[in-house]
Amino acid sequence: KQSVKLIAGNWKMNGLASSLVEATALKSALEADPADCRVALCPPATLIAQMAWQLRGGSIELGGQDCHAAASGAFTGSISAAMLADAGARLVILGHSERRAGFAETDAVVAAKVEAALQAGLEPIICVGETLEQRQAGQAVAVVADQVAGSLPLSLADQAFAVAYEPVWAIGTGLTPSLDQIEEVHAAIRAALIARLGPAGQTAPILYGGSVKPSNAAEILAVPEVGGALVGGASLKAEEFIGIIRGA
Ligand code: G3H
Repeated sequence: KQSVKLIAGNWKMNGLASSLVEATALKSALEADPADCRVALCPPATLIAQMAWQLRGGSIELGGQDCHAAASGAFTGSISAAMLADAGARLVILGHSERRAGFAETDAVVAAKVEAALQAGLEPIICVGETLEQRQAGQAVAVVADQVAGSLPLSLADQAFAVAYEPVWAIGTGLTPSLDQIEEVHAAIRAALIARLGPAGQTAPILYGGSVKPSNAAEILAVPEVGGALVGGASLKAEEFIGIIRGA
């Protein structure tokens, strides 16, 4: 049996205090019927402390969606990894394609953020993935392997972390790669992890993200080397997210 899977929900810039009703419903569902996997929610940073209080005593872990690479300082509007940890986060998503594309985050920036997360004791979920153009040009595997090599600092070797494969064209579109395509890229990521980190690269879970929903979760999660899922839209509603969790 493979190691326990990680199902993480990325709320992105969705979620006000009123959304906490969904987190409560998820907690109740997991209390009634515990999951066979790790479950995490990554809400907007403004909700983390409140959710940590609300979910206390339960099994749901919390994560941030980004952090600054510096420990502290004059960075108006930014949030440090230590602040996320202080608020109650245990994980942090880094290098999401929406950050890479919309905030000009290079592999080097992502790697610096990963270092900062590790310093703060957070488990990073490092995202990689090709654009539609890159896939159509036959470059998916090469692009993703390059991102792994560039975004993962060597200090990850003895730390807990996850990688998330998120094809940019599958995010929020309802499109997903075929199971064979997912298997191919996950195998390439595993090879890139081992090339980069040595034996330590053998065990980190490789999540799949991009239009995961209750109806496709089980088949995707059964693909070799798929160690979990990073779920966007379908993580906003407890009922849908639990459907995905049950597929793990
Ligand atoms: O981080 C999550 C992903 O970007 C996937 O989003 O499930 O809405 O396609 P999605």
